[in-house]
Amino acid sequence: MNNRVPKLAPSIMTADFARLGQQVQEAINAGVDRIHLDIMDGNFVPNLSFGPLVAQSLRPHCKIPLEAHLMISNADHYLEPFFEAGIDSVILHVEACPNIEKSIAKVRAKQKKVGVTLNPGTPLSAIEPLIAMVDLVLIMSVQPGFGGQAFLPGSIEKIQAARLMIERLNPHCELEVDGGINLQTLSSAFQAGADIFVVGSSVYNKNASVVESINQLMASVQ
Ligand code: DX5
Ligand code: ZN
Repeated sequence: MNNRVPKLAPSIMTADFARLGQQVQEAINAGVDRIHLDIMDGNFVPNLSFGPLVAQSLRPHCKIPLEAHLMISNADHYLEPFFEAGIDSVILHVEACPNIEKSIAKVRAKQKKVGVTLNPGTPLSAIEPLIAMVDLVLIMSVQPGFGGQAFLPGSIEKIQAARLMIERLNPHCELEVDGGINLQTLSSAFQAGADIFVVGSSVYNKNASVVESINQLMASVQ
């Protein structure tokens, strides 16, 4: 565990869509691990973001994985369009999928990677039976729907408990955290046992360039 290095997954939702390709390229040049696409339908969450077309536009320019965080109802219906668009993995909300094991099987049938995630108010027990089936667990450290929110108290304990659950049930499963990751929270979330960190407003903001923001975040981890 001591040679671990945090991996960053910039969330493009807070990027400048007028120059999205350039903003993604800047993050890739700074050495991020994957690009996080927040898909919102205005139904499962009270916000509307974008669909497969954005993934389709980014795909030819993006050599690193594209992960789609599906904050949508009826996710099964959109698996094919997202994979057709070039998405490498989907992250399913346990609260949004009526039969999540069936949804996971559908992703597997397409030879794609799949993760599960849960809202801050949902207990880890809701995903425990799924951990052995998935490649990734995403811990929401904000209420899904918007970038720029504060890291919720209790998230560190949830990350620690998720790490123990993964070690017990599926040690190869990745552990990702999403929401409010910044210079003040990244290090403690990393020490708590998470590997991958979604970063939106801490990377795409007016205060510093994408590269500077990423370098500062990496330097903030003891
Ligand atoms: C919220 C999304 C997050 C969010 C991250 O529903 O899942 O990925 O955009 O943005 P920050 O890092 O600003 O919290
Ligand atoms: Zn997300």
